[in-house]
Amino acid sequence: MKTATGSIEEIVLDGSARIACPSELTPAPGQYLLAHADASDSPLPVPLFSSLSSPHGFRSAPPVPSFWRPGDRLHLRGPVGHGFVLPPSTRKLALVAYDDSPARLLGLIPMALKQGAEIVLVGDAATSDLPEIVEVQPLRALMDALQWADYTAMDVARENLPGLRELLEGHPQVTAKSEAQVLIRAPMPCGALADCGVCALTLRHEWKMVCKEGPVLGLKELM
Ligand code: FES
Repeated sequence: MKTATGSIEEIVLDGSARIACPSELTPAPGQYLLAHADASDSPLPVPLFSSLSSPHGFRSAPPVPSFWRPGDRLHLRGPVGHGFVLPPSTRKLALVAYDDSPARLLGLIPMALKQGAEIVLVGDAATSDLPEIVEVQPLRALMDALQWADYTAMDVARENLPGLRELLEGHPQVTAKSEAQVLIRAPMPCGALADCGVCALTLRHEWKMVCKEGPVLGLKELM
């Protein structure tokens, strides 16, 4: 993990931001950076996930704090956590934005295209900036997409994981076949620095710290 100074190049209308930073700090899909703005009164840093690459750094997934302004200086630490691991054999990739924008999943698209994979994006949130080759399907097509894909990357809020689990438990043959990873979104106030426990995810027989054991976990671990 590294520290560096970066800056906000642009605040985009969808609530994301273009961040300038050294290339070695740019988080891989599913990882995050901890960012603290010079202008901030809060002692806590903000976790920033990357969405798309940009010439001097990356475009973050929304939202960023409302008081951030273009030109503000950021103190950055990262990349933090475990991201998605796209298997090199993937030829059919499903991206599932279960309950939010797919922004945190978009960084997998160029990686999958390089491998010659077909890509389906499943979710009900509006999305722009998608390559035409990406097929978009509503969330009700989730089980079909899981059945079709040889690797699936999902994004779900911690509080919605029980609902997703219940849905998948109704289709055990699909879940057993699926190679899938899930990015769990949870508040991460200390960002793996102080063992605060706020990001804890309770599973059936154990619990995990999303900030450092995740935020990306294997679907089978979560079932
Ligand atoms: S955010 Fe504090 S332990 Fe995870």
